[in-house]
Amino acid sequence: MKKINKDRSVLIIGAGNIGAFYDTPRSSIILSHAHAVTNHSTCNLVGFFDIDHKKAKQAAYIWDTAYFGSLEQAFSQTKPDIVIVATSDNSHSNVLLDLSKYQPLVVIVEKPIATSVVDGEKIIKLFAQKNIPLLINYSRRFIPVFQNLKNQIDKGIYGKFLGGTGIYGKGIIHNGSHLIDLLSFLVGESKVFSVFNRQFDYSDNDPSVSFILNVINDVKFTVHSINSKLYTIFECDLFFERKRIRILNSGNNVELYDVVSDKIYKNYKILGKPKIINVTLHKSLYYLLDNAYHISLNNRIKPLCSGEEAIHTLRICQSIRNLNLHD
Ligand SMILES: NC(=O)c1ccc[n+]([C@@H]2O[C@H](COP(=O)([O-])OP(=O)(O)OC[C@H]3O[C@@H](n4cnc5c(N)ncnc54)[C@H](O)[C@@H]3O)[C@@H](O)[C@H]2O)c1
Repeated sequence: MKKINKDRSVLIIGAGNIGAFYDTPRSSIILSHAHAVTNHSTCNLVGFFDIDHKKAKQAAYIWDTAYFGSLEQAFSQTKPDIVIVATSDNSHSNVLLDLSKYQPLVVIVEKPIATSVVDGEKIIKLFAQKNIPLLINYSRRFIPVFQNLKNQIDKGIYGKFLGGTGIYGKGIIHNGSHLIDLLSFLVGESKVFSVFNRQFDYSDNDPSVSFILNVINDVKFTVHSINSKLYTIFECDLFFERKRIRILNSGNNVELYDVVSDKIYKNYKILGKPKIINVTLHKSLYYLLDNAYHISLNNRIKPLCSGEEAIHTLRICQSIRNLNLHD
C-alpha cells in the first residue's frame, strides 16, 4: 500500500513579534508561530516572507530556515501546505487576496480576519470558492480549559447566563475582539446595546470603546475600556445561576465559584471560595497549528475558529466603533 506523506510544510507571512520574535528556539514556552511550527513533530518551517526583507532575513537566521523576497518566490520554491498570516491587522485582507492565487491546504490568519466586514466577507467567499479552509487565531478557543467551560455551559450544568462584565484596552478591533469572541464562544452571539466611552490609546482608527451588549434574552454584558498606555488588562466575569466564572490575567487564570450557604447569615446563598485553574494560554499557538495540521489531512475537520465566527465578532466590533456615544 502507498504510504501517505503526513508531513506538512509551513510558510509564515509576517516576520514580526508573533510570527518570529516573541521567543527563540531555546525558549521554554511557545510565544511565536515559528516556535509552534518547529515544535510540531510533523510540521516543517520552510521560511518567512515579509515586506520588510530585513526582518524576514533576521527571522530566517534565528529559526534556521529560508526567507523569500516575494510570495511568488515562496510558493514556487516551497509549495507550502499550511500558510500562517501574521502581518499587521490592516494588511490581512490584502495578503489573503494575494494568497488566494495559490492553493495551500489550510491558511491560518491572525485576528482580526480583516479590518472591515465588507473585506472580511469577500475573503470568506473567495476562500470557500477555492475550498481553502481558513482558521482565525482567537487564541482562547484553542485551549482545552475554555473548551471544557463551553461544554459545561452548553450542557446547562451552570444554569442560565445572568450577565457579566469585561475589561480590555488596545483597540476594539485589535483587542476588544478577543473579549467579544470569547463571549460568543462561551455564551452565545450578542448584539450591541449601547456605547459609552471612547479613547484612542492604541491607534487612530481603532479606539478602545466601552460598551454594553445584549446577549441571550436581553441579558447584558458590560465592557469597560482601560487606557492600555497605563497598563494592560484583559478580564471577563460571567455569572450563571449556579456558577461564576472569572477569567483573569488575559485568560492565564480562571476562577470558578459555586453557590454555597452562608455560614453567618441563615438562608443566605453566597459564592464560595474559588477553584483556581491555571491555564496554559501560551500553548494556544501550538494547538492552533495542530488544528490546521489535522484539517490539512482531512478538510472535513471543523476549524476551532472559522471565518464565519470571526466575521460575527468583527461585525460587532465595527458597529461599536461606528456608533456615536449617545446612540
Ligand atoms: N491572537 C493573539 O493573541 C495575537 C497576539 C499578538 C498579535 N496578534 C496579531 O498578529 C498580527 C501581527 O502582530 P505583531 O505584534 O507580530 O506585529 P508586528 O508589527 O511585530 O509584525 C507584523 C509584520 O508584518 C509585516 N507586514 C505588514 N504588511 C505586510 C504584508 N502586506 N506582507 C508581508 N508582511 C507584512 C511587517 O513588516 C511586520 O514585520 C496582528 O494582526 C496582531 O493583531 C495576535
